Amino acid sequence: MKKVILLFLLAVMALSMAAAEAPVLFIYEESNENIDPWLEMLRSGLASRSIAYEEKSAAELEGLDLSPYSSLFLYGAVMAFTFKEPIRDWLDTEPDLSEKKVSLLVTANRWFLDKYRGQLQQRLDKHGAETIDTISSATKNLSDDEKAALALKALSAIP
Ligand SMILES: Cc1cc2nc3c(=O)[nH]c(=O)nc-3n(C[C@H](O)[C@H](O)[C@H](O)COP(=O)(O)O)c2cc1C
Repeated sequence: MKKVILLFLLAVMALSMAAAEAPVLFIYEESNENIDPWLEMLRSGLASRSIAYEEKSAAELEGLDLSPYSSLFLYGAVMAFTFKEPIRDWLDTEPDLSEKKVSLLVTANRWFLDKYRGQLQQRLDKHGAETIDTISSATKNLSDDEKAALALKALSAIP
């Protein structure tokens, strides 16, 4: 009898640990020399908060099963006056984001920041996401320390 109770308790513990470890899906536009430093800052911020996560560039998302993830973190960057935006292209494939908690960080050197943030937000709303945080910033006048602080701030709302 004691063995049965022990096994039951172990099973309950295993199930609750699995539930607690549902990873965050960290989505970014693409890897390039401007975006890579942000990926590093965001990875180190996620690690410093001990957040379990998996990361994908937007091009890797087609057909991905989103069911293991309850939270998404999106890092969008304005590229080519918003003509080239892989995250937006993915959102246009109509992924089902209902019951997904989404944090959004958008940066631009200086142009079209609000336009792109709005485009992402509109698509997130359309696909049923619950946006828990949106931060956007022009980066033109930011020091490296200010960029790192912004990256950390953007991660702070992840549940
Ligand atoms: C291919 C490419 C195109 C870009 N086009 C724009 C743009 O149209 N408007 C803008 O404000 N920034 C543009 N940027 C700058 C990025 O938005 C910027 O590098 C990114 O937000 C990260 O900021 P940081 O480079 O200041 O760290 C572009 C960057 C790349 C790599």
